[in-house]
Amino acid sequence: MRTDTPQSIYLKDYTPPAWLVDTVDLHVAIHDTHAEVRATLACRRNPAGPGGALVLDGEELALQELAIDGAALAPFCYALADDRLAIASANGAPLPERLTLATRVRIAPDANTQLSGLYRSKDGYFTQCEAQGFRRITFYPDRPDVMARFTCTIEAARERFPQLLSNGNLVATGDATDGRHWARWEDPYAKPCYLFALVAAKLDVLEDRFATRSGRTVRLAVYVEPGKLDQCGHAMAALKKSMAWDERRFGLEMDLDHYMIVAVGDFNMGAMENKGLNIFNTKYVLARPDTATDADFQGIDRVVAHEYFHNWTGNRVTCRDWFQLSLKEGLTVFRDQEFGADVHSRAVTRIQEVRALRVAQFPEDAGPMAHPIRPASYAEINNFYTATVYQKGAEVVRMIHTLIGEAAFRRGMDLYFARHDGQAVTCEDFVAAMQDASGVDLAQFRRWYARAGTPHLKAEGRYDAQARRYTLTLTQSLAPTAYEKRLQEAGLAIDDGPLHIPVALGLVLPDGSDALPEKTRVLPLTQQSQTFVFDGIPAAPVASLLRGFSAPVHLDFAQGDEELAHLMAWDSDPVNRWEAGQRLATRILLAGIAAGGEGTDWIPDTFVAAVARVLDDGLRHDAALAAEALILPAEQVLAEEMAGAGKAIDPEAIHRARIALRRHLAARLRDRFEAAWAALAPTEPYSPDGPQVGRRALRNLVLGYLAESDAEYLNASVMPRLTAQCSGAGNMTDVIAALGTLANLDAPERTAALDAFHSRWQGEALVVDKWLQVQATSRLPGTAARVRELMRHAAFDIRNPNKVYALVRAFCAANPRHFHAADGEGYRLAADVITELQAMNPQVAARIARSFDRWRQVDAARQAHARAALERIRDCAGLARDVAEVVGKALE
Ligand code: PHE
Ligand code: ZN
Repeated sequence: MRTDTPQSIYLKDYTPPAWLVDTVDLHVAIHDTHAEVRATLACRRNPAGPGGALVLDGEELALQELAIDGAALAPFCYALADDRLAIASANGAPLPERLTLATRVRIAPDANTQLSGLYRSKDGYFTQCEAQGFRRITFYPDRPDVMARFTCTIEAARERFPQLLSNGNLVATGDATDGRHWARWEDPYAKPCYLFALVAAKLDVLEDRFATRSGRTVRLAVYVEPGKLDQCGHAMAALKKSMAWDERRFGLEMDLDHYMIVAVGDFNMGAMENKGLNIFNTKYVLARPDTATDADFQGIDRVVAHEYFHNWTGNRVTCRDWFQLSLKEGLTVFRDQEFGADVHSRAVTRIQEVRALRVAQFPEDAGPMAHPIRPASYAEINNFYTATVYQKGAEVVRMIHTLIGEAAFRRGMDLYFARHDGQAVTCEDFVAAMQDASGVDLAQFRRWYARAGTPHLKAEGRYDAQARRYTLTLTQSLAPTAYEKRLQEAGLAIDDGPLHIPVALGLVLPDGSDALPEKTRVLPLTQQSQTFVFDGIPAAPVASLLRGFSAPVHLDFAQGDEELAHLMAWDSDPVNRWEAGQRLATRILLAGIAAGGEGTDWIPDTFVAAVARVLDDGLRHDAALAAEALILPAEQVLAEEMAGAGKAIDPEAIHRARIALRRHLAARLRDRFEAAWAALAPTEPYSPDGPQVGRRALRNLVLGYLAESDAEYLNASVMPRLTAQCSGAGNMTDVIAALGTLANLDAPERTAALDAFHSRWQGEALVVDKWLQVQATSRLPGTAARVRELMRHAAFDIRNPNKVYALVRAFCAANPRHFHAADGEGYRLAADVITELQAMNPQVAARIARSFDRWRQVDAARQAHARAALERIRDCAGLARDVAEVVGKALE
């Protein structure tokens, strides 16, 4: 079988760098037709290295000059091939132990559509160097374990590029000839080149200050495209909150005098933690109540915090190699999650994390791209900025936190920095610090870093009334994934022993109280199967397992509907109250799916009653939690349930069953929904935080249910509210909730609302993205055709990642029923986009290609369509490595 998966590189082949770089002096001159980059590198042979030539990476660089210690190098001294410059000697003499290498290259940022390296966005120039973009700027040993001190001088036309920014401190500025000017920056901290950044653009700036706890003042700046200053306030506030939080929770202080955030409209990812000069996708900076939703505001909080937190976890202590990516990403996501929990609601934050894990990471773990949080091999590192490395990586750090406790975790962090500040280290170093600070043996725990796949946890409980004893047997299992099979073929050993799993357990008594004095006990499961005994339990308890979602596993625990209903009502852990509702809903929906999504006799009245109770509770207590509880399990999650049970995923039946359940609830609970709608009417001016966020979420959720009513009620009573909310609500949260609901309805009001929205917001790129997204995720027939039409619309631009994500990825990843259409049209659409895009932006194309991950789990007819689409991509001439890896593994 042809697979064409590109060459892999292996963690086991790691060798230290042969040469180190102490200082880098860059001079970047931006001209109309090109940029010229001069680099002076103070290099020294690494005593711990393997010896050999001075090898530098370089991609799409036109070499103009090359000199060592001031003498131009004769061509016979070096070889320039395969994106590498290998220097073997200095004009006949062996290379000295220390040398100064000077290069001059030309690059073409205007032609850089990959958005890696130096590129143009609108009228400005920006860089993105993680993971391997620096080699697209100059020749350099582009690997994170080479850390150097950087200075950077930028020169450009003053009028067009008033702001010239780089990492660290501004040390000099001046004028050059022909209306040009320059600025020189010096970063006092040694860093790997992936943290380098520069910006040359015309931008507006919002400035502020932060006083650190040791009394220093940090100058803060948020730079945005001219005219958008009124949309930066929230990001600035988030930055200050993050700085204060990291001091409080981890004792970590900002270490530079300047901290800058620059927003750019063309960006492959969310944001980038370059030292002192973060570059952000506009999506995570710009927000105003009328343009951004509550979720957008919270996303900004989290991403600003994430990038700021990287200053310590990522920058001060960085990764030895890219296999260790989760060292910085898993830990920093854990930190931004904790920040979110502390500044918003801990329970809601956690529920959203669990949902995201199930929608994105569990399917990844079950598909052809499965990998551990620290993969042992990869073909293209850009394909490993994944839900596994980020979200599961954070779960692994969270499990350490659960096993050793907050105080020991904090000591572990302190020890990690004491040992490794200024170093490039491995995941083992992190775990060792946690182990040494806590005294808890984490040797077995390290298997979490090496195993792919989602473990299964089987639980069996028994209560002995006479002995007042509850006995719980836990059994773990983890089947090998595509990843382990590939490793085996490569002759690599797999450590498939049992994992160390923290199982947080509560025992809920019939009166709803906790039987355990400490309420929740963490059971350390280390064997394949283990029995735990609890004495002095006065009555038969309902076990609440994995409280707070204490481990990223599939739970297999036969609990009856009444037991789940008991947990829904009484569990003292809000996450498990939510989880019980999800398990109950999943069970019902699976029955509905088995019935082809037809009829309603699979919907028990007890569930309707439970939903009514949750709603009432939400009105009295926590509306945000109720809103989470009333979201039915996602289609993707139900699909995984089917696949896990060995059935072919039936996207149509899943969709039908889920809608049928929503309609049934709308019909049976109309009065309750109406009462809630009225009770939740806004009473205060809009603010993106506080309890009103939860009230808005619940009210819009209720409106969504009401829109599932019969046509008569819909038209008479719901439609007017939807259209009024679309045109009249002052905040984007309410507007987009109504527009998203309308987008599912085949009615003239739909078109009118979409048109009006577009004409009002066509000048605001991020809002146009929302307009594309609600249409791409519509349930209506003809959605694929509409997506194709929108791809030709002036609002779309295939070169802009945000547009591709809003329209194409939303369709492929968030509209499973249309993506997996029986006629193969969804797959064809994806293949058309991927083949066109891969030549321009391979990273983004590869992300879209991941939509095919679950193609082998659908029925044979769909599989044939998917295979044809995948093979068409595979056979594309000059296919980019990023896409080749994803498609190759899918076809393996
Ligand atoms: N390191 C960035 C983050 O997680 C993500 C990123 C990776 C951005 C690669 C750009 C390129 O914060
Ligand atoms: Zn990160």
